[in-house]
Amino acid sequence: MIEQLEHLERDGVEAVAATTDLDELRARESELLGKKSQLTTLKSGLGRLEPDERRDAGARLNECRRQIEAAVSARRSELEAEARLERLEAERLDLTEVIDGPRLGHLHLVTQAHDQLEDTFVGMGFTVAEGPEIETEWYNFGALNFPPGHPARAMYDTLYVDYGDPESTLLRTHTSPVQMRVMEQNEPPIYVVCPGRVFRSDTPDASHMPVFHQIEGLVVDRGITMADLAGTLDEFTAAYFGRDIHTRLRPSYFPFTEPSAEFDITCVICEGEGCRTCGRTGWIELGGCGMVHPNVLRNGGIDPEIYTGFAFGFGTDRLSLMRYGISDLRDMFSNDIRFLRQF
Ligand code: PHE
Repeated sequence: MIEQLEHLERDGVEAVAATTDLDELRARESELLGKKSQLTTLKSGLGRLEPDERRDAGARLNECRRQIEAAVSARRSELEAEARLERLEAERLDLTEVIDGPRLGHLHLVTQAHDQLEDTFVGMGFTVAEGPEIETEWYNFGALNFPPGHPARAMYDTLYVDYGDPESTLLRTHTSPVQMRVMEQNEPPIYVVCPGRVFRSDTPDASHMPVFHQIEGLVVDRGITMADLAGTLDEFTAAYFGRDIHTRLRPSYFPFTEPSAEFDITCVICEGEGCRTCGRTGWIELGGCGMVHPNVLRNGGIDPEIYTGFAFGFGTDRLSLMRYGISDLRDMFSNDIRFLRQF
C-alpha cells in the first residue's frame, strides 16, 4: 500500500504541474482528491490492515494527500497570475493616436486669425481690451442706446441666462459692450480693439454658428470724424489683406452709432471681378460701423461736446473662411484634427 501511495503521490504531483488552465486543474483536483479518487478508496481500505501497518499507511496517506493539495494550490496561483496577465493584456486600451511620427500641435484657426488681427491693429497704434462673455442687459443693450422694448433689440437673437431678474443677464450678442467698459475705465484718447466670442440663437449652417467671433474697434478723441473711420478701415484692410483690397461704406442703422454704416471690402476671392462668393458684386459685407452716438459717450462718462469717436465691429470667422477658401463655417468648430491640421 505504501508503494501504491508513493506512485499516487508522484503521478498526482506531476499531473497537477502539467495542467494548463484553471478548469483542467479543477478536474484533476477532484480526480486525485475527491470522493471517487484512488486516495479515498485506499483510505476506506485502511480498516482492513493490521494496527501497526494501519498507522504507517495512514500517516503516509495523509502525507500523500498534503503533497497533492500543496501542488494543486501552487499550480492554482501560477495559473491565476497567468490568467490575470492575459486579461490585462486583452483589456488594455491604446489611448495614443496613430500618427506617423511626432507632430507639433498649433493654435486653432480662430486664435491665429485673432492674433493676426490684433497684430495689425497694434501696428496701427491700438491697444487690446477684453470683456466678459456673460453680460448684463445694460452693457449689451441699454448703455448702447437701445431703450427697453426698442425694435433694434430684435436684430439680435439674444440668449438669456437664467440669473437675476428675467432678461437681465445674457450671453453677449456682440463685442460692443466692451466699448462701454473701456470708456468707463479710460479717459480719451481711446484707441482700442476688443476681440472675442459672441452668441446668438442661430441654427448652425454653412455660414452661421450660434457661437462666433467678432472684433470691435473704438476710437474716442478730439476732432475725430467719419473720414478717420473710413481711412482707418481702408488702412486696416490693406494691411491685413494687401493693397488691392479696398473698403466702401453703405448707410445703415445701429442705435449706438450715428451716422451708421455697413462696410464692405473688395471680394478677396475675385479681387472685385465678381464671383460666386460675392454674388457677382465684387464686394463682401464685413461689418458695421459709425460715429459713436452722443448718448453712448455720455453713458460711458465722456463729454460729447469735447470728444467724438467712431466704432466698428465685424465677424472674424468669415475672414478665415475667405482667407483659406473654406466653404463651411461648421468645419472650423467640429474639432476634426484632419481639418484643423491644414492651417
Ligand atoms: N455690434 C454691431 C453688430 O454686431 C456691429 C457694430 C459695431 C456696428 C460697432 C457699429 C459699430 O452687429
